[in-house]
Amino acid sequence: MLTGAGVSAESGVPTFRGQGGIWERHRPEDLATPQAFARDPALVWRWYHWRRRLIHACRPNPAHLALAELEARLPGFNLITQNVDGLHRLAGSRAPLEIHGNLWFVRCLDCGERREERRLDLPAPPSCPLCGGLLRPDVVWFGENLDQELLERAWQAAQEAEVMLVVGTSAVVRPAASLATAAKRAGAFVIEVNLEPPPNSSQVDVSLLGKAGQVLPALLEAS
Ligand code: OAD
Repeated sequence: MLTGAGVSAESGVPTFRGQGGIWERHRPEDLATPQAFARDPALVWRWYHWRRRLIHACRPNPAHLALAELEARLPGFNLITQNVDGLHRLAGSRAPLEIHGNLWFVRCLDCGERREERRLDLPAPPSCPLCGGLLRPDVVWFGENLDQELLERAWQAAQEAEVMLVVGTSAVVRPAASLATAAKRAGAFVIEVNLEPPPNSSQVDVSLLGKAGQVLPALLEAS
């Protein structure tokens, strides 16, 4: 399974692209790059505080729950997500590969300490309790490399997959978008679940148009 922002849309988490998407109102280079953080860490943190508060109030939807149930039923199941909201874990998914990180974790720029941080009243920017260094959200920003080990596990899962379900992603951000292509090339049957038809229909075997929160429970029921 490869999921993107669309899987959390019905939980109330805004998507990035498309109508009402975050990148319609904000420029990624102002908020989601290492350069933006170096320039104005307080601004970047205020934006993450806004997102953390918003997501804190969100609950997993039937799409997250259906994926957790599929995991329990299917041996060899892997879930790769681009989402940083942590909702897959809340729904019961045991080991989602969060290839873009998780906004409930922070990392110190000085000592490298990474830890879970769920408090919503942090200063902007917060500092490391161990060394006083600047903390950043433990997410991947534009222009940064993904965690190599996670990415390798995701590649391996994609290349070994018999079936890949691609849910709620515009599939424009690489390398995540290339995972479905790699799976297809390696012989997987690729099913896309999205509100919109895929831009390149030769990349998918079946396109299921609709809301993830309706399509996935229906798939589960049929399986
Ligand atoms: P996008 O916002 O680019 O795409 C969301 C996709 O979900 C679109 O194709 C929508 O049509 C679809 N969609 C919306 N609501 C849906 C629903 N209820 N059911 C099914 N599909 C729905 O999100 P991503 O592809 O995840 O990067 O974006 C990839 C990356 O770009 C993100 O991880 C983030 C962003 O910049 C980082 O944070 C590094």
